[in-house]
Amino acid sequence: MLKILLTGANGQLGQEMLNRCPSGIKIEATDYKELDITSIEACREYVSKIKPDRIVNAAAYTNVEQAEDEPEKAMLLNRDGAANLASVSKEAGIRFLHISTDFVFSGKNSRPYSPDDRPEPLSVYGYTKLAGEEAVKSILGKDALIIRTAWLYSRDGKNFVNTIIRLLKEQPFLKVIHNQHGTPTSTVSLTDAIYAAIEADARGTHHWTDAGETTWFDFACEIQKQALKYGIIKEEKEIKPVTSDEFKTKALRPTYSVLDKSSFISETGFSPRPWQELLEENMKSKAV
Ligand SMILES: NC(=O)c1ccc[n+]([C@@H]2O[C@H](COP(=O)([O-])OP(=O)(O)OC[C@H]3O[C@@H](n4cnc5c(N)ncnc54)[C@H](OP(=O)(O)O)[C@@H]3O)[C@@H](O)[C@H]2O)c1
Repeated sequence: MLKILLTGANGQLGQEMLNRCPSGIKIEATDYKELDITSIEACREYVSKIKPDRIVNAAAYTNVEQAEDEPEKAMLLNRDGAANLASVSKEAGIRFLHISTDFVFSGKNSRPYSPDDRPEPLSVYGYTKLAGEEAVKSILGKDALIIRTAWLYSRDGKNFVNTIIRLLKEQPFLKVIHNQHGTPTSTVSLTDAIYAAIEADARGTHHWTDAGETTWFDFACEIQKQALKYGIIKEEKEIKPVTSDEFKTKALRPTYSVLDKSSFISETGFSPRPWQELLEENMKSKAV
């Protein structure tokens, strides 16, 4: 039985990793209360107590807007927390899997970003996640496994899909940004990709999202279409496309952050499915 120490287990990804844990793997689930990853002593103590074979870090400071006002807090979790877990993994001689983000890129590309493309974050969140990646790599070198993902949503978490459904119920119409391109990713497929990467003993920096690309506007339209189909909402609302200049946010986001997944696919043999299929499965699961 492979024992995994999972951090951030109450989050979107953490919950899915628990839901979809394959036979042959035992997860020791921790969140802030059981293991605060910003304390290296706590990390060391936990690892020596439960002696895991792997550590998977699903804990992070993920509030992109709030991070602009709390850069130290975001750095403490996204850089120092990741570094603590990497150090403890090195001391214990175990593999470490860390999750990062498309927001490490600037979005100036017009073709999918490969893992080797130069990161150039635009936001505090992106900057702190990049600092986390760099810390992990400087401690573990090529043995670290870093998986960057994007536009993540789970069935019940706080995410774009559930926000759009709520707004479709509450508002007469919606305005959604149409000039930012990326790929939605279900925690279901990310979780299966993570377990495939663990089985393949993958290392290095790789990308995982669902297949295809879209804009936030088209994503919102597809959410509405499927929410109507599965009876999650009763009434169609107008969704108006706006540009990011018209819809100001504190944090700047990349206008293009499609990720090239080919190195992940060749390392693990695990391939992505179209994002629309995963969204439909998510919607179906909400309908029952
Ligand atoms: N969400 C996205 O769209 C997205 C996109 C690309 C990449 N990612 C990356 O994917 C990973 C998973 O994201 P997610 O959406 O599942 O995140 P999430 O739902 O925000 O979950 C993160 C979890 O970490 C916990 N946590 C906070 N501080 C902690 C600490 N000091 N020690 C231990 N745990 C702590 C959080 O607890 P509290 O809720 O109580 O703070 C929460 O349960 C992250 O690395 C994120 O950067 C996410």
